[in-house]
Amino acid sequence: MSESSADKLWGGRFSESTDAFVEAFTASVNFDRRLYRHDIHGSMAHARMLAHVGVLTDAECDAICDGLEAIQAEIEAGEFRWEVGLEDVHMNIEARLTDRIGAAGKKLHTGRSRNDQIATDIRLWLREEIDHILAELVRARTGLLELAEREADTIMPGFTHLQVAMPVTFGHHMLAWYEMLARDSARLRDARRRVNVMPLGAAALAGTTYPIDRAYAASLLGFDGVAANSLDAVSDRDFAIEFCADAALIMTHLSRASEEMILWSSAQFGFIELPDRFCTGSSIMPQKKNPDVPELLRGKTGRVNGDLISLLTLMKGQPLAYNKDNQEDKEPLFDAVDTVRGSLRAFADMVPAIEVNRERMRAAAMQGYATATDLADYLVRKGVPFRDAHEVVGKAVRRGIELGCDLSELKLEELQHFSSEIEASVYEVLTLEGSVAARGHYGGTAPDAVRARIREAKAALENE
Ligand code: ARG
Repeated sequence: MSESSADKLWGGRFSESTDAFVEAFTASVNFDRRLYRHDIHGSMAHARMLAHVGVLTDAECDAICDGLEAIQAEIEAGEFRWEVGLEDVHMNIEARLTDRIGAAGKKLHTGRSRNDQIATDIRLWLREEIDHILAELVRARTGLLELAEREADTIMPGFTHLQVAMPVTFGHHMLAWYEMLARDSARLRDARRRVNVMPLGAAALAGTTYPIDRAYAASLLGFDGVAANSLDAVSDRDFAIEFCADAALIMTHLSRASEEMILWSSAQFGFIELPDRFCTGSSIMPQKKNPDVPELLRGKTGRVNGDLISLLTLMKGQPLAYNKDNQEDKEPLFDAVDTVRGSLRAFADMVPAIEVNRERMRAAAMQGYATATDLADYLVRKGVPFRDAHEVVGKAVRRGIELGCDLSELKLEELQHFSSEIEASVYEVLTLEGSVAARGHYGGTAPDAVRARIREAKAALENE
């Protein structure tokens, strides 16, 4: 018979101490200590609420709050001794509180459980992180709008199937990235509303017998509301899953933009130059300048997808209410937050520093008969049925290929050979500038449409 677990805060009913490996295996303090500030914040609100309803005296509440404040200072000074034997952040802090202030410390856990405590901590922490991520998104989006404005008139080839399709403006392309991130911001703001609901009061699973005032605690903690069901409050982690899904979409968008930056900065495209400070060299090939940052953003997308799948899999099949499985929610959630926050930061830093090679993009747009559809539309406006126009233009393109020139470089007589409807005015639509300018409707690629969208987006950003 080994010694009892009397050293544990829950040791009362145990007759032998925890197996040493099991103790380390079940502990979470090595990662959940990251929540210390939110744990202390939540505990102070809980203590104030207990004093407010008369369960604690004001003197006990003051001793608890002063003690917790001192503990926070100890942690931040690196003087706090985290004990794996005390399992998690909650019991480490509570044990230290009792060390410091004596009996009042043992009253803090009245009407509460670690189950509603941890659910509260994660929500407080995630709410704050979402705000940081939203700020990075605003920075990235602002950078994209500025780049789009600078390059509103810059012409590049637009692609489908990675084949030259139609000319577009670089500004319009940057606005496409902008729209993705604007939706990501909206999704996160929406998710935040569901994060910002307080579990405290649910206690272990069924609520508590004390005359608690949940709304009071919620207002101290800045929660928008309180969880409406105690079983649900301690058990579900759907808010964390939802965050990870939003994070996975952010990463997917950054990954797609990164892939384009990687392609565009290659010698074959030569559309953009990334500043040296976002690239690295090769240890063997002296000429190399590798786009490491976009490559990493693309690569890190996989981690966040993995975090999302971890949490979904963690939750499926769990019976109500709290299960220890939920301790496994933290590392994937922390990883998703750290990854998406760092990735957005790097992206937002990089965007304003992108240098654009306008000549290379224009030259690329001149290859591949990007204005072929404009010629077809021109013929349709002259009364030629679209299918016939398509045929005519196909022949003109073949002629261009034979002569090794663009449609706009074919002589008028040459073009008229394919259709008698073609007149000198055709060159207005065959130029790249004419092609993009013609798409001036809302959402189109014309420089004026791009500038109009930038104005609209800037105004919306200011009101977020
Ligand atoms: N470390 C635990 C977690 O992360 C805290 C809650 C523990 N509750 C319990 N009844 N063991 O979920």
